[in-house]
Amino acid sequence: MKIDSNSIIGIVGAGIMGRGIAQVAAKAGHKVILYDNWDGAVDNAMKINEKELSKLVTKGKMTQEAKDKTISLMNPTMEINDLAPCNLIIEAIIENKEIKQDIFKQLEDICEDVVIASNTSSISISALANGLKKPENMIGIHFFNPAPIMKLVEVIYGLRSDQQIIEDVHALISSWGKKAVYVKSSPGFIVNRIARPFYAEALRVYEEGVSSFPTIDEVIRSSGKFRMGPFELMDLIGNDTNYSVTASTFDSYYQDPRFKPSLTQQEFSQAGLLGRKSGAGFYKYEDNKQQGRDDIRKVTPSNNKISEIYVYGSLGIADELIPLFKKAGIKVIEVEGDGYIEFNEIKLFLANGKMASEISKELSEKNIAQLDINIDYELSSSVTISTSLLAQQHVAPNIAALFSQIKKETLIIKDSPAMIMLRTVSMLINEASSTVTNGVCDECSADIAMENGVNYPIGPFKWADKLGTDFVLKTLNNLESFYKDSRYRADRGLIEKSIIGGKYYE
Ligand SMILES: NC(=O)c1ccc[n+]([C@@H]2O[C@H](COP(=O)([O-])OP(=O)(O)OC[C@H]3O[C@@H](n4cnc5c(N)ncnc54)[C@H](O)[C@@H]3O)[C@@H](O)[C@H]2O)c1
Repeated sequence: MKIDSNSIIGIVGAGIMGRGIAQVAAKAGHKVILYDNWDGAVDNAMKINEKELSKLVTKGKMTQEAKDKTISLMNPTMEINDLAPCNLIIEAIIENKEIKQDIFKQLEDICEDVVIASNTSSISISALANGLKKPENMIGIHFFNPAPIMKLVEVIYGLRSDQQIIEDVHALISSWGKKAVYVKSSPGFIVNRIARPFYAEALRVYEEGVSSFPTIDEVIRSSGKFRMGPFELMDLIGNDTNYSVTASTFDSYYQDPRFKPSLTQQEFSQAGLLGRKSGAGFYKYEDNKQQGRDDIRKVTPSNNKISEIYVYGSLGIADELIPLFKKAGIKVIEVEGDGYIEFNEIKLFLANGKMASEISKELSEKNIAQLDINIDYELSSSVTISTSLLAQQHVAPNIAALFSQIKKETLIIKDSPAMIMLRTVSMLINEASSTVTNGVCDECSADIAMENGVNYPIGPFKWADKLGTDFVLKTLNNLESFYKDSRYRADRGLIEKSIIGGKYYE
């Protein structure tokens, strides 16, 4: 059976997701039948859709005529038999395998020939198809919340899904203006799997006393250009929801330490400190406004004017700083060496998965500091440093003085391997690599998914190209040897890429 622009779309479940998906399909010109078994759900869904579309008309983003047509194409019902003429049914009910399967069996009896798709966030598509008369007609179509706004849709195939159906649905969803990606059914699919380290590493950094929530969030926003820091994002998602996604991913991967949940988040969740929805989480909220966001650890620059620095060898991604220093009138003397900046008897290295203190010990020098990676040193308003446990008091203020001359604020965290950005990004790259190694998707789809499903400024493989796979691998190896924790073991795909050389995007 062909799924195309003439297909009638059925939606089962008129909650947050079903309502939004109905709006997307109707906007694309499909007749939509929106079914829910709870009295009031469909009426409520239609009211919200009407309100959202009216807003688009007011803003000039939709004509009144298009709005009226979209509304007229959505047919609410509480009678499941009304789904009989549908060619494609997208289910978005409660996240329970047995209840979903029960509905699918009913739909197979009601509809003559239908593709059944689940919007499940966590249940295997292969498992959902088990027991159906036509398991080949069962697929996953995973929208992100809010469905009318978020561009990404994961089109998921189970072990028995029909290839042609998957391709037709991918083409259809793309024609709706969405970014559709193919995904092999596996726990967390793409986004909910690769995103785990974004939260997990921040929680670990906090738990180790390396930095505070506001400082970690600021580093991630300012140096990484992520729209939100991990703690404010967990507060938005809800600590209970975020914790249970992590816990279920951990269980699904048979307690692989890569996915180990955080005791801190469990504690917040159990305390009812769920985030915005409960008025307090990692931050407090008054009138829905976040409090305490400005409590960020910045270094006050010393009064020293730095007129000359030595740059020994390549600083990797931080080489971007050299023209900025020169432009600010600082004399940069470039010499051969192991990759660090030296001035006023201070050595500043790019973070690489070791502590600054370890380097201090290796070199028998006190005044060692590290610099975290930035997605764009020129555009970022700040840099982040850490200093060796042996460093003298003047080190941080002197480094801050250097960066103030190129109009950057200096944030400081306690000495820690791979700091904040490098640790987070390396683990995102590693998880993305593992997702590809496991055949869940290709590199390009992983990047599209992270850029459009969770709005990352660039996908993990673009990051890998910026940093170089050798550097990412070295960082992970250093982290693994520091923590003696296989959580940081490098994925074989990354190791292979480092051997072959070259970039993911040529
Ligand atoms: N909320 C999200 O951010 C999000 C994102 C992506 C995917 N999902 C997935 O989408 C699905 C729906 O989530 P949601 O957040 O929209 O839930 P929701 O609670 O807002 O809506 C679920 C709707 O399904 C209806 N329903 C429940 N059992 C039913 C049945 N047997 N027959 C008919 N209708 C029934 C309920 O009345 C309710 O209106 C879940 O599988 C969830 O994992 C949710």
